[in-house]
Amino acid sequence: MAIEVTATGRGVPSRRIANDDLAGRMDTTDEWIRSHTGIGARHIADTETATSDLALEAARNALSLAVERGAGEKTPEELALTIDLILLATTTPDYNGCPPTACIVQEALGARNAAAMDLSAACSGFIYGLETAAALLNASPERKRALVIGAETLSRITDWEDRATCILFGDGAGAVLLEKTGAPSAGPERRGLVRSLIGADGSGAGRLMIRRGGTRNPFKDGETLEKGPKIEMDGRAVYNFAVKAVAGAIETLLREEGLGIDAVRRIVPHQANARIVQAAGKRLGIPEEKFYLNIEEYANTSAASIPLALDELNRQGGLDRGDLVMTVGFGGGLTYGGNLIVW
Ligand code: UT7
Repeated sequence: MAIEVTATGRGVPSRRIANDDLAGRMDTTDEWIRSHTGIGARHIADTETATSDLALEAARNALSLAVERGAGEKTPEELALTIDLILLATTTPDYNGCPPTACIVQEALGARNAAAMDLSAACSGFIYGLETAAALLNASPERKRALVIGAETLSRITDWEDRATCILFGDGAGAVLLEKTGAPSAGPERRGLVRSLIGADGSGAGRLMIRRGGTRNPFKDGETLEKGPKIEMDGRAVYNFAVKAVAGAIETLLREEGLGIDAVRRIVPHQANARIVQAAGKRLGIPEEKFYLNIEEYANTSAASIPLALDELNRQGGLDRGDLVMTVGFGGGLTYGGNLIVW
């Protein structure tokens, strides 16, 4: 039995903010942002849109593709009824802790037979999510299908007065349908998720954080806020961690599988900064074209960035059945990891 990715989807807000739009509002330039990050634009949700709305769009998009490609069920609604688990990775839930955003998606999707929960591992959330969902599918013969979603409205927790961070982030969602199939999970014909690496270095917890609003620094009754909860980051420290984490995760996954990089068709990295990916690739002697980057259009969408990129690549025909795909990422926590998937 294999745990295969059988469909992908995405939900991206239509409002697009180019670097020049930001340069008109603060002391920055398109040139600085592009040369330091590879970012050209970001998509920002309107005020009515929350994380679950983007997640729902991505989930529906994935279910429609599954039906189109012959999932067996006639409509996305019928397919939704067969989902056993919805796992939603996010740093920006609709509500602070309760209810899980995944439950809001479950209801809107009509997936009433699905268990639903959120996963918090910052930008590594989707990588952790794939491994978690696969383990839950493997743990019970009753469970066959899971939706793994990464979704964010980072614009809500972005400090738009801090030019060092606000240029980095965007909103969006990506989803994959994971299915237990009769394909082999080992040997030359193996399919699906074959290996994951998930790790953390909690000593870096303070390097990237949303300081206010949790139980450590709660809002007090009567408190007047100058600013809501915002992302704070030590960019240099995260950058240095990230280059090591990305290079280390790629090396570890390849070594554990006894493979060379040529066996991997594409690496889909977390899209935080193109320079991080380039530096990690250079360390390992991996050509830049091996990495799929769409950061220029979407900026950093945290837990959504990998599934969003996977969906783009998939729909462009950039992956054939049997191709080995690697995801790799890092984020707040500090967390890191990667997945190896036979498409
Ligand atoms: O998903 C996980 C999250 N986070 C990350 O992956 C972020 C990792 N870190 C980074 O990507 C980079 O550290 C940044 C892109 C955030 C910053 O790039 P940097 O090359 O490390 O720049 P820096 O912070 O060292 O700043 C260099 C200069 C400073 O000016 P001075 O002190 O040299 O005069 C900054 O004030 O660039 C200035 N600066 C800017 N200038 C124009 C910082 N932000 C901007 C800006 N526009 N937006």
